[in-house]
Amino acid sequence: MKRRVAILISGRGSNMSALIKAATAPDFPAEISLVISNKADAFGLERAKAAGVTTLVIESKPFGKDRAGFEKVLQDALDQHGIELICLGGFMRLFTAEFARAWYGRMLNIHPSLLPSFPGLDPHGQALRAGVKLSGATVHFVIPETDAGPIVMQGAVPVSDHDTAETLSERILEVEHRIYPAALSLLANGKVKIEGDVCTTAGSGSLENYLVSPVLS
Ligand code: GAR
Repeated sequence: MKRRVAILISGRGSNMSALIKAATAPDFPAEISLVISNKADAFGLERAKAAGVTTLVIESKPFGKDRAGFEKVLQDALDQHGIELICLGGFMRLFTAEFARAWYGRMLNIHPSLLPSFPGLDPHGQALRAGVKLSGATVHFVIPETDAGPIVMQGAVPVSDHDTAETLSERILEVEHRIYPAALSLLANGKVKIEGDVCTTAGSGSLENYLVSPVLS
């Protein structure tokens, strides 16, 4: 049986689209059963509808600081649709510790940096200001702290001297679209295990690929 997944979005939904596309493969172990946006005008909603996925809007704004009130409505929707796993795809709303704990081990997030470096806002700008030569993306389990939690998968890209936040974000986004479906597949297949703060993957293999930056020509 395929695991039933909800994707939570707030914006353009490109990671959501990558997950929806991957899940159309017959052997993918999860199905995208529901897309929920906390913003009625999120472009991702159109993309999800075009892909034939059920969508739902639960506006968070009217709840203001009442996070628990918003989460009660969210949890009801997840229950109604029999959701087993959640993927956050650019979902720009913080959860209460209670909600994060209730879904611990069953809720993934993607962040465009090699965590634990550069959590929070403007990770691309943070990476450029720090002068790192490699950056990337991280899929991790959600915990009460923002952009933290056991790491399932990371992908790295070189950072060029000429990069802007825009060019770096485009390069990282390509990696995001590769690793998010791969990480969800691992989770849905029961291949990942959390031990304390660390996530391990059954059958993870070759350590021979590496990335060096800068490369001199
Ligand atoms: C993605 O780059 C994702 O990594 C980031 O928001 C973007 C959403 O794009 N998430 C975070 O920064 C979480 N802290 P998308 O809507 O096109 O998937």
